[in-house]
Amino acid sequence: MFTIKKDSPVPIYYQIEEGIKESIQQGSLKPGHLMPSEREFSERFEVSRMTVRQAITNLVNGGYLVRQRGKGTFVASSKFDRSLQGLTSFSEDMRARGMTPSSQLVSFSTMKASQKVADRLMIDVDEEVYEIKRVRLADGIPMAYEVLYMAKSLAPKLEKDKLLSSLYDYAQQDLQLHIAKGKQVIEATNATKEEADLLEINEGDSLLLIERQAILSNDRPFEFARSLYRADRYKFSIEINR
Ligand code: GLP
Repeated sequence: MFTIKKDSPVPIYYQIEEGIKESIQQGSLKPGHLMPSEREFSERFEVSRMTVRQAITNLVNGGYLVRQRGKGTFVASSKFDRSLQGLTSFSEDMRARGMTPSSQLVSFSTMKASQKVADRLMIDVDEEVYEIKRVRLADGIPMAYEVLYMAKSLAPKLEKDKLLSSLYDYAQQDLQLHIAKGKQVIEATNATKEEADLLEINEGDSLLLIERQAILSNDRPFEFARSLYRADRYKFSIEINR
């Protein structure tokens, strides 16, 4: 950790602020890192908590740190740059960035397919489908909220615990399904109250909505998923040729 000079004309809160900022920029404090509490900082530097609070508040306002209710203050993520090439799963994307993926299951139910879901899954209306709602997290921080549908006939024995880890791993390893291709549409949207609560953001914040239809090698649709990615954490890129 950096040091501060008490006899310097530079205000102490500013020295702390700059010290933390530099540690983030140099990479010694990584995105998602839980910051010491105000009390710990004030003991370490032997300064008042008010001084520490001012530094932290400035860093939060500047987007360097994020406060999470009841959890503490974390180093903010730089936006994920996710390639649009390649049909990867959430878990693969996070592992590729050295982060640990996890899921919070919001609901898991079986229902009859609506017209829209039936069209996307190329099944008959009224055929049974799973509706799976999950918050997807990286190192414990919510990144996306996904609602996906798949025909029950593809995985009749699908159980809750499988949904806490990778659905693609389950499909490929346990069910021997080969997810081969897909189609994605990206749109901008704003968080509803329910989505905002799940993603720990404010109602109305920007989201990137990705609708994915993934298809198996036998041309049967595997899933129809609507994923809402936090626009403050994600950007998508694609390589182009002329
Ligand atoms: C991405 C896609 C979803 C897909 C999910 C599978 O997030 N947008 O359509 O269902 O990956 O991820 P996992 O295998 O980690 O469950």
